Amino acid sequence: MPSIAFGRGRVSLMEFSIRRAVIADAEEIARVHVEGWKNTYAGIVPDAYLASLDVKAHAELWKENIAAGEAIILVSESGCGIFGFAAGGKLREPIEGFDGELGAIYLLRGYQRCGAGRRLVEAVASQLRAQGMRSMAVRVLAQNPAVEFYRKLGGQVIEESLFEIGGASLPDLVMGWPDISVIFDPVPQSVATAQH
Ligand SMILES: CC(C)(COP(=O)(O)OP(=O)(O)OC[C@H]1O[C@@H](n2cnc3c(N)ncnc32)[C@H](O)[C@@H]1OP(=O)(O)O)[C@@H](O)C(=O)NCCC(=O)NCCS
Repeated sequence: MPSIAFGRGRVSLMEFSIRRAVIADAEEIARVHVEGWKNTYAGIVPDAYLASLDVKAHAELWKENIAAGEAIILVSESGCGIFGFAAGGKLREPIEGFDGELGAIYLLRGYQRCGAGRRLVEAVASQLRAQGMRSMAVRVLAQNPAVEFYRKLGGQVIEESLFEIGGASLPDLVMGWPDISVIFDPVPQSVATAQH
């Protein structure tokens, strides 16, 4: 279990672990997912669409996803339970030069900026590599601050497009890592620490 000392102007300590999701996690994943959408996309995605998101309906979808066993679905949990998840797998819609994708990553607000997002992306990338994939893409709304998170992890903007949702047309980016090994096999820790 990783123990991470981290903070901006204060020192916080969060212990968490990452593991594969099981069907019994579906409802908690759905709760994090729906809460994540409502918090992240308020003021970006139309309110009516966000209000329509339903934990029970999403839980059914996650149950099916986990049961199908095709996607990589990982949860991060602390002593208080599941606070985040990430999902990935084979690229669903072709993007030239890419074979794998990060399909979703969401953390409850109180657990962000403590290193768990980075660990989840590293874990998904490493599982994709273990399944024979070499690259990874992710779609992100251009207005989402997560764009900077992906940049920090070495992601580059590959394509710009528009994403239609709830009657709105929103600027959307495809970000990608042509070589995923840079994510889980980064510069030596001593160098990374010296840069902080
Ligand atoms: C995006 C998200 C998964 C990132 O996870 P996290 O645990 O908060 O990020 P980490 O603490 O692992 O950050 C890793 C690095 O990215 C940086 N970073 C993270 N979020 C950032 C942001 N919004 N702006 C700028 N930098 C950011 C961190 O400072 C850190 O850099 P450092 O190691 O040089 O200090 C998380 O914030 C989240 O769930 N956001 C809401 C949902 C969302 O937008 N999901 C993506 C949908 S495409």
